[in-house]
Amino acid sequence: MQVKGKEINICVFASGAGSNARKIWDYFNNHPYIHLSLIISNKPNAPVLQMATLYDIPTATICRKDFLQPANLLKLLKHHAIDMIVLAGFLWLLPKELIASYPEKIINIHPSLLPKFGGKGMYGMNVHRAVKNSGEKESGITIHFVNEEYDKGSIIFQYSCPIETADTPETISKKVQALEHLHFPKVLEILANKILKEQP
Ligand code: GRF
Repeated sequence: MQVKGKEINICVFASGAGSNARKIWDYFNNHPYIHLSLIISNKPNAPVLQMATLYDIPTATICRKDFLQPANLLKLLKHHAIDMIVLAGFLWLLPKELIASYPEKIINIHPSLLPKFGGKGMYGMNVHRAVKNSGEKESGITIHFVNEEYDKGSIIFQYSCPIETADTPETISKKVQALEHLHFPKVLEILANKILKEQP
C-alpha cells in the first residue's frame, strides 16, 4: 500500500552487533516510502554503528543523562522526521516522555516467547540458556510495543521454533535469530503501513 506523498522514517535503537538493524536496512533499502533513517546507540564502539557507517545510515550516540531527560533526543528524532522507533538489541528502559511522544510507535523484538524468559537481565545468551535449562520444547521471538517495563508491552506477533533434545543455547540462539531476520522487517512494514494510514 502506498499513500502518495507520505513517508515513514524509522529510527533503530541498538547497542550490539546490529544484525537485525542490517536486515531492516536490507529490507527497506529502495523501499518507495519506508526508510531506515537513523540508528542511535548508547555504545560509541558498538558494531552496529560501524555497519551504519558502511551503509551511509545517519547515526547518533547517546549518553544516559540525555536519554533520561530526552528533550534533545526528541529534537533529534524530529529533525530526522522519525515516525517509528525500533529497539533491536537496546537494553535501557525508555523514559516516559519518549514513550508518550511515540504512542504505539515504539517496537521491541525479544528472543523468546514472552511472557516467558523476559524482564531485566533477560537478554542475549541469558535467555537461551534459561530456555535450555527449563526443558522447554519450543522457543521463538516476540515483537511487542514498548512500555515502561522490560518486555511487558502488548504483544504484536510471535513466531516459534521447536527445541530438540540435542539443541544447546548456541543452536537455540541461531534458530531464534533466523526467525528474527525473517520476520522482523516484514512485521515492521505492516506496522509502518498502519501508522501511515492513521496519519492525518
Ligand atoms: C536480538 O536477539 C533481539 O531479539 C534482542 O537483541 C538482539 C539483537 O541482536 N532484543 P543484533 O544486535 O540485532 O544482532
